[in-house]
Amino acid sequence: MSIDRLIQEFDLALRTVCASARSVRPLPGGELPEVALDAAEQRHVVGLMRVNHCGEVCAQALYQGQALTSRDPAVCEALRSAAHQETEHLAWTEQRIAELGGRKSLLNPLWYAGSLSLGLFAGALGDRWNLGFLAETERQVEAHLDSHLRSLPENDQRSRAIVDQMRLDEIEHAETAIRYGAAELPAIVRRAMKVMGGVMTGVAYRL
Ligand SMILES: [Fe+2]
Ligand SMILES: [Fe+2]
Repeated sequence: MSIDRLIQEFDLALRTVCASARSVRPLPGGELPEVALDAAEQRHVVGLMRVNHCGEVCAQALYQGQALTSRDPAVCEALRSAAHQETEHLAWTEQRIAELGGRKSLLNPLWYAGSLSLGLFAGALGDRWNLGFLAETERQVEAHLDSHLRSLPENDQRSRAIVDQMRLDEIEHAETAIRYGAAELPAIVRRAMKVMGGVMTGVAYRL
């Protein structure tokens, strides 16, 4: 890898963890009114949005690791374009956390490093497994966003609109990975990923 590329990737990592992300698409539900939530509801919504933000930090790192190691230029391009949407998700969840007066996860640098290693590992296994890992991640994120839609207060339309749009994007990312030839991961790997995801969401909800 050239030194220029290395600097570019390092810059992306720093921006994800330290800077505010930008979105080309407008904030979903940005036109919807803010509603008054009681203190417990507000804490809960901030917790859920912090989990989502942390998940998007992980998505950035995963996609970065996978694009770095992918062999096929078409796959690389698909990964980059999905990563752009993940950056938008990062911006939307960050904005919602700020609107609710919350803060992002303190452990984001740690999650980033862990996810980057996972992405590099998946990438090293070859494109079929790389994409398989991606498709499964996106499917698990989709299930997890479904659970957030069940748990978010019914009247918090602003948060719901963001999660709704993210869910649609993640479904599309999984379909893209499958279209490019994703392998189906063994059940034990899928289970391990679920356990890891559970730990991450549990910690990020609080920290
Ligand atoms: Fe996302
Ligand atoms: Fe995604």
